[in-house]
Amino acid sequence: MRPSDLSFLHRFEPGDGSARPPLLLLHGTGGDEGDLLPLGRMAAPGAALLSPRGQVLEHGQPRFFRRLAEGVFDEADLRRRVEDLAGFVAEARAAYGLPAPVALGFSNGANIAAAMLLLRPDVLAGAALVRAMTPLASPPQARLDGRPVLMLSGAMDPIVPLANADRLAGQLTEAGAWLDRRILPAGHGLGQADVAALSAWFASTAMQGANAA
Ligand code: MLT
Repeated sequence: MRPSDLSFLHRFEPGDGSARPPLLLLHGTGGDEGDLLPLGRMAAPGAALLSPRGQVLEHGQPRFFRRLAEGVFDEADLRRRVEDLAGFVAEARAAYGLPAPVALGFSNGANIAAAMLLLRPDVLAGAALVRAMTPLASPPQARLDGRPVLMLSGAMDPIVPLANADRLAGQLTEAGAWLDRRILPAGHGLGQADVAALSAWFASTAMQGANAA
């Protein structure tokens, strides 16, 4: 399949040939496929970057799945969109010759990455979830088998109550993820503390584990 025929509009930047796993960049509501490229380059220098645009439009703003209200998700749509995104990842891996990617998602992008870990644990080698919340009330029993996951929550996040993020952390731990959870003195927006934590995590032993996956 040619890159222009892939099922999601996307950007792809090849890696520098080092052993780093590719990053699947998943933007927040109102973002697009260009948004997280600079963050990906900073967090994991030299990694290949695969960045799709969400296919749901909310008042003209791209997202990865529908919601009924802020923080209230259309779980049937979310499950369908996880399958669509999993299909895109498979197409892109074949088209670009990539191993399983590690997701780096922000907000809505972090939420679909979390749902993908729980619904399709075969797709991702790991995930960095920035300001994620619980996407599925009752996820199936996933087996994440030590897959590395970083969760960065904001102590003053007005969109994601810490108790909600705690529930997701519990689901991921129960599924067997190798979870690194940090609560930053931040709101919902991305800041320097996120960049520093992401860079350290992507350079860490957790990612050696993802390489071996
Ligand atoms: C979501 O809808 O995924 C969350 O409320 C975060 C957001 O996109 O604002």
